[in-house]
Amino acid sequence: MIYTEKDKKFKRYTVTSALPYANGPVHIGHLAGVYVPADIYVRYLRAQGEQVMFIGGSDEHGVPITIKARKEGCSPQDIVDRYHTIIKNSFAELGISFDIYSRTSSKEHHETAAAYFEKLYKEGKFIEKTSMQYYDEEAGQFLADRYITGTCPHCGNERAYGDQCEACGTSLNATDLINPKSALSGAKPVLKETKHWFLPLDKDEPWLRQWILENHKDDWKTNVYGQCKSWIDAGLQPRAVTRDLDWGVKVPLKDAEGKVLYVWFDAPIGYISFTKQLKGDDWEKWWKNDDTKLVHFIGKDNIVFHCIIFPSMLHADGSYILPENVPANEFLNLEGDKISTSRNWAVWLHEYLKEFPGKQDVLRYTLCSNAPETKDNDFTWKDFQLKNNSELVAILGNFINRILVLTHKFFGGKVPVKGELTDLDRQTIAEMALYPEKVGRSIETYRFREALAEMMNLARLGNKYLTETEPWKLFKENPERTATVLNIALQVCANLAILCAPFLPFTADKIHAMLNLPAKGWKDAGGAELLESGYQLAQPELLFEKIEDAEIEAQVNKLLETKRQNELNAWQPASIKEKVAFDDFGKVDIRVGTVLECSKVPKADKLLQFKIDDGMGGRTIVSGIAKYYPEPEKLVGMQVCFIANFEPRKLKGVVSEGMILSAEDKDGRLVLITPSQLVTTGVNVG
Ligand code: MF3
Ligand code: ZN
Repeated sequence: MIYTEKDKKFKRYTVTSALPYANGPVHIGHLAGVYVPADIYVRYLRAQGEQVMFIGGSDEHGVPITIKARKEGCSPQDIVDRYHTIIKNSFAELGISFDIYSRTSSKEHHETAAAYFEKLYKEGKFIEKTSMQYYDEEAGQFLADRYITGTCPHCGNERAYGDQCEACGTSLNATDLINPKSALSGAKPVLKETKHWFLPLDKDEPWLRQWILENHKDDWKTNVYGQCKSWIDAGLQPRAVTRDLDWGVKVPLKDAEGKVLYVWFDAPIGYISFTKQLKGDDWEKWWKNDDTKLVHFIGKDNIVFHCIIFPSMLHADGSYILPENVPANEFLNLEGDKISTSRNWAVWLHEYLKEFPGKQDVLRYTLCSNAPETKDNDFTWKDFQLKNNSELVAILGNFINRILVLTHKFFGGKVPVKGELTDLDRQTIAEMALYPEKVGRSIETYRFREALAEMMNLARLGNKYLTETEPWKLFKENPERTATVLNIALQVCANLAILCAPFLPFTADKIHAMLNLPAKGWKDAGGAELLESGYQLAQPELLFEKIEDAEIEAQVNKLLETKRQNELNAWQPASIKEKVAFDDFGKVDIRVGTVLECSKVPKADKLLQFKIDDGMGGRTIVSGIAKYYPEPEKLVGMQVCFIANFEPRKLKGVVSEGMILSAEDKDGRLVLITPSQLVTTGVNVG
């Protein structure tokens, strides 16, 4: 390793990535925040020859799951079975290289989590408290966590949950909420007595303060450190680790009927139980040996759970190591709006994989180069296209393709022999040698965007070298010089194959195949002798292809349609107008008329001109509904309602003697009002 945290030497790496809730598929926000950086990190460590274990799995308990099940009228198990499969498969297809991807509904997990609780219970590590909890009398159920919403006492967000405010990241107790409301019935909940077990976090304050605020002042990201500090400074409170729910890991005590472990107690234990599933009897060293480096990749809404609560659980047991780092990212937005599963405002991984087959690395590249490492960031389809077309295609793909094509053209696809070197050659070789360390150092310090940019700089170096040497012009005059240039350029390709692998594993495999390059580790990178002279290369194939405007437009339109759907779903009837006296209503003369003629008003797209039989010789009325009745002649014979006693008005040169009534639907469409049965033309409506 080039650099290790605090220069400590580690023998092995336990790398975890937050377990996604199996209540929906995975989207680009999850990927950019957690899984792409974690995967880059572990692929890099493996390339360095380190012992790594990369843990993932589905978080299948907790209220998000039961809420979804209730909404869909199926069981929580149905929900998690469905999404666990989708999530697991789509991660695999994107090349997220978990050593295990398991699930918290598994038997082994239930056993491990229950045993963990039981041990702490027996050692007296919990406080047992009877307290008042919110209860929904209509639903006959306690309201844990997300079953209750209200206003966050810290930031005023009106949609905070009973366990956490997602707007400011603060972890809450349900009783902290202002104006609490049941998410089940909308009712105002009542308080009811119930017994629970609490982790006395207040007692952990001294060592947490030392461990995080002193020891990790310099190596934890400022967003992570800052959240921990404000939490600790606010004073830690005992935290309930059990809930009155029927979905989860049953509390393994006699007097705990109807109670399960809090999802944030059982889920992180998943990291441990999955290790047991993967390693069997050999699991302990991955969690208990001092020479193991534990790193948690998470999103910012998970910070307190991974930096304070889970460490307190590990500390309470006493035999576990603590995380060396918790690189949490901020959030990724989509086209300027917060990503939301419930509003379907997301790019879903499983859909992307279907719509952009073979383009896994394009997504990985875009998400890494845009990762919200220090602040929230935005994903746009335009930017996705730009990154593909002007970086992957134009810089990386183009460089490698040119070299391979030229080598085939001039040297039959064999690595040509390097002759005498010029200053430029020597300089290029020397510069190339610096990249493994540059990229590696950035990865090891969790600066993945920077690492990716450095990798691309090596491709830029290659392109610059070609521009300056122009081997395509050189061959006729000077085949030896051409051979040297192509040899060096091919070494750059081979280096790129190694250095791009953590970020773009599919591309790396293709380059390896084209170069016939045997698998090489990070330690080999930097060298100018990776490909020996005379070595036969395979046929070149294009690494990336241009993404056309039409493909991007289709994606943008899909999002616009989502936005429209959301607006429709959010529709509510207008509030009732001020009271009006019957006599006032009676002043408006509404009648039924029959359409005699109907046509478009010339030079006015919106207007239709009606000739109405009103039983009194007929009248003309102009109405702004042309857009909704494209074939006005079809309205002839239909009965409509109109206001008969408006002052006549001139509209686009036509005098309109009244107003035809219509209803405005929630999408803005106007629909004519017509009597449900034929009536005598001219009668009053009232
Ligand atoms: N399911 C949680 C979320 O999506 C993350 C759980 S991480 C674990 O926010 F540590 F609890 F596993
Ligand atoms: Zn808040």
